[in-house]
Amino acid sequence: MYFGLGSFSRFAASLGIAFLVQTGIVFACEGECIVSITKAFVGNYSGPVNTAMTQMANTLAARVGPYNLNNVPAISFLAPFIDEYNRRAYDYMENAIFPSYFHGKCQNPATGIDPPGCPNPDCPVVCGTPGSMIHFYPKLRYISFDATAGLVDDIAKRGSPAYKQVLKLLTSAAASSNPARRTLFRFKRFEEAEDHEHLQRREVDADQWLHPASKEFRPALAAACGGNPNAKANGLPNCSWEDSFKSYILSFP
Ligand SMILES: *[C@@H]1O[C@H](CO)[C@@H](O)[C@H](O)[C@H]1NC(C)=O
Ligand SMILES: *[C@@H]1O[C@H](CO)[C@@H](O)[C@H](O)[C@H]1NC(C)=O
Repeated sequence: MYFGLGSFSRFAASLGIAFLVQTGIVFACEGECIVSITKAFVGNYSGPVNTAMTQMANTLAARVGPYNLNNVPAISFLAPFIDEYNRRAYDYMENAIFPSYFHGKCQNPATGIDPPGCPNPDCPVVCGTPGSMIHFYPKLRYISFDATAGLVDDIAKRGSPAYKQVLKLLTSAAASSNPARRTLFRFKRFEEAEDHEHLQRREVDADQWLHPASKEFRPALAAACGGNPNAKANGLPNCSWEDSFKSYILSFP
């Protein structure tokens, strides 16, 4: 095969362009920066998430009332919610922060010039750089809260696969620990039909216990974060971690 000079210089030019694109990427939050910041938010939220899940379990336990559910603690029934949260938290958070909000160039599209402070260290334009995340930190903090609450809202909504799993666990525990279950005058041929009806009644009960608890997460998380779930300067004071996050964000070029 023969490569003429023309094709060689085109090859060299494309390398040059690739090089320029590469150096451009250095000033954006990409790769390691995205992964590390996402992990830090998910990790920092583990405490408040635990607190809010416990609150959900307390509401459930209060609703269950006289059924002791075989003395199994209410939080154990929420395992399908917790497992799914742990499985999806990273991707959900990354998507909420990065492509959904902080992305793209900071340059003024008309002039092609970066505004003062851009790309770093404090960029007053929404774009995909550490400096932009610093400038819009209250928004970033609110996005991380809303992603955490939104994911659990989605997982725990009535009729979701995880909701149905929790319901099933609750129903069978309630059916086998029913304090009012009749044992007298049970005739063999009625037993199966009776058991089926009994199970259906317990499923209705379980739904009535679980549904209010399933809506408890977002307000409980807001309370655990110190209130004011908004993107204002003083919002969510206990889920801000502002000083440590700002220096962490600026440690990425
Ligand atoms: C939150 O994340 C930042 C950045 O990783 C870290 O410096 C800080 O210690 C974390 N705070 C908590 C409470 O986990
Ligand atoms: C929020 O943080 C403050 C200061 O550390 C603390 O006194 C308060 O109890 C916290 N609030 C909640 C809801 O954890």
